[in-house]
Amino acid sequence: MPDYLTLDDVEVASRRVLVRADLNTPLAGGEVADDFRIRSSLGAIHKLRSRRAVVVVCSHLGRPEGSDPRLSLAPVARRMQELGGFAVRHLPVMAGLEAKEAVSRGLPGEVFLLENTRFHPGETSNDPRLADQLAELADLFCQDAFGSVHRAHASTVGVAARIRSVAGPLLTSELVSMGTLLENPPRPFVVILGGAKVSDKLGVLSALVEKCDVLAIGGGMSFTALLAEGYSVGRSLVEENMMPAIGELLRGPHGGKVLLPEDVVAARAFRADAEHRITAAESIGDDELGLDIGPAAAARFADACWAAGSVFWNGPMGVFEWEAFRSGTETIARAVTSSGAFSVVGGGDSAAAVRLLGLEDEVSHLSTGGGAGLRLLEGKALPGVEILKKWVP
Ligand code: 3PG
Repeated sequence: MPDYLTLDDVEVASRRVLVRADLNTPLAGGEVADDFRIRSSLGAIHKLRSRRAVVVVCSHLGRPEGSDPRLSLAPVARRMQELGGFAVRHLPVMAGLEAKEAVSRGLPGEVFLLENTRFHPGETSNDPRLADQLAELADLFCQDAFGSVHRAHASTVGVAARIRSVAGPLLTSELVSMGTLLENPPRPFVVILGGAKVSDKLGVLSALVEKCDVLAIGGGMSFTALLAEGYSVGRSLVEENMMPAIGELLRGPHGGKVLLPEDVVAARAFRADAEHRITAAESIGDDELGLDIGPAAAARFADACWAAGSVFWNGPMGVFEWEAFRSGTETIARAVTSSGAFSVVGGGDSAAAVRLLGLEDEVSHLSTGGGAGLRLLEGKALPGVEILKKWVP
């Protein structure tokens, strides 16, 4: 039994339901450049419309300092309307009298999208006055922004403390998938972590190395680990201050589970068209930097996926935006999705790689959360989920 209520537990007909979605999507030229999070948010909205609720959606977008027209949710509203097949009325405000009047005239099935919650200075500080104003907009709050529940903001925690609150379908499916990995992962449980920095992922590295059977480390963060193992890594990205911590992990009781790349794709410059070569990790030149894992490492990581009962993958294996350094990430994406294992892919870049390759439907769960997923797997509480417990009778 989950310790929160869901939309199925409550009556919503003719009620105003405030849905916190995570519509924090990349924009380019004033239009949505990646609509994955918008598509993922549609389930809750369709469900509420079919049950005749007045739907009021809110989200942040980017990290604006005050009101910034470049980060308006207007393009998101247009894309949501196209994808959802229903009208979306974008309001130029995120709370207050104008919003209250508009939504109080809303009809069952109507969808409003409020303006970027972070245009208000009280959002990130969880200002009680903003939380009050958000709460006044609705009869019920539906938290569906998995990507944002690690933030204790007015639109994630403040409002949920004030009106009856439930988890939406996206949040629920994210929590169930991540929960499987945390509590009862089919074995062997293989974790593949990449991305630039050890410092971003040290917590999850330490927590997962205890739970998993194999932990493969690629991407920029592998060079700090290789350096800690005594390799010379040339001009590759390293975080010297992370060396003691990663060294401790590698030499600790679970260090035997860790796979590091035995070869890399190295270049002399950090450029898409830089000349490059495949080299053993121990032979990276002083003037070279590693920009991808090499084919031998990719094959070994892929073998681990094919033998896995469950796989969690977060973070690219190299600079996958550049074709020359994409191969490691592509090999892992194909291995994870063809493994037959229960697979969860999280984090913007690894999820983007899966989608770029058209493999979206082959993953058991493609997560919309970056930081939130990592925090959950670290075993830390998510404030936006914790507050929902208050409403369980
Ligand atoms: C994300 O993109 O990870 C979420 O939308 C949270 O955004 P934030 O890190 O700006 O709070």
